[in-house]
Amino acid sequence: MKPFKNLSISFFYFFVSTLFFISLLAYAARFDIKNNCNITIWAAATPGGGRQINPGGTWSLEVSPNTKGGGRIWARTECIFNGSGVGKCLTGDCGGLFQCQDGGSGAAPCTLAEYSLGTLNMDFYDISLVDGFNVPMIFNSTSPECSGIDCTGDLNGNCPTELKAPGGCYNPCAVFKTEEYCCTGGKCKATNYSMFLKGGCPGAYSFPMDDITSTYTCPSGSNYNVVFCPLGSL
Ligand SMILES: *[C@@H]1O[C@H](CO)[C@@H](O)[C@H](O)[C@H]1NC(C)=O
Ligand SMILES: *[C@@H]1O[C@H](CO)[C@@H](O)[C@H](O)[C@H]1NC(C)=O
Ligand SMILES: *[C@@H]1O[C@H](CO)[C@@H](O)[C@H](O)[C@H]1NC(C)=O
Ligand SMILES: *[C@@H]1O[C@H](CO)[C@@H](O)[C@H](O)[C@H]1NC(C)=O
Repeated sequence: MKPFKNLSISFFYFFVSTLFFISLLAYAARFDIKNNCNITIWAAATPGGGRQINPGGTWSLEVSPNTKGGGRIWARTECIFNGSGVGKCLTGDCGGLFQCQDGGSGAAPCTLAEYSLGTLNMDFYDISLVDGFNVPMIFNSTSPECSGIDCTGDLNGNCPTELKAPGGCYNPCAVFKTEEYCCTGGKCKATNYSMFLKGGCPGAYSFPMDDITSTYTCPSGSNYNVVFCPLGSL
């Protein structure tokens, strides 16, 4: 009888741990990252790494629903990588790596989707233009009761000459590096440049003190869509 009993106990633990693992998977937060642009996008995500998404393609990325430290998703354009995943992108490059590393960020300019999941049973999310703009974006939840963020204006075509960058439009802080635009002291107001950015992306952070109108919340456990070029072409 004894071996049989041990077997049934270990089977019981196997069963319980399998259920536990399945429940963890079931509670992952899913980000469906869709490339609606007419060019290839090398999506970048921390956590998550990277993925080449051809026009019309989607990357379904699952992350822990308790990503409290925050995560970021952005588009990289015009990338070339060699067989080891080392190379370069025109915009959004993350240290020359195909698989972006956690804690890393994309080289400006790039439109950023930012999130923090599971604090006080809430998810917080935003689109930030603090690193400028490369590709139009919609960031919304699959739950219709949570607000979506639209960043679909033509900020590349309308970019003021002094902010123009190869493949995008810089935030004025990156160009002028002054307190007025960078707000390192934590006190500054909207400027003509931040108002231009906000005009094309009404729900986005356009300068560092732009929090109040630009952070969105959704109940913890929600899933999200990040759509590059929601209106079609770049
Ligand atoms: C890719 O490029 C890196 C950096 O130049 C190099 O170290 C690596 O060997 C290259 N890999 C391939 C497969 O060419
Ligand atoms: C989120 O945005 C996408 C792209 O515009 C749209 O298809 C979808 O219906 C939106 N989802 C919700 C819940 O509003
Ligand atoms: C914004 O303001 C700066 C400084 O006041 C000025 O030099 C610049 O021409 C203005 N740019 C636009 C696009 O209005
Ligand atoms: C994408 O669309 C834009 C605007 O319609 C067009 O100018 C461009 O040639 C298209 N690019 C490709 C690769 O089809």
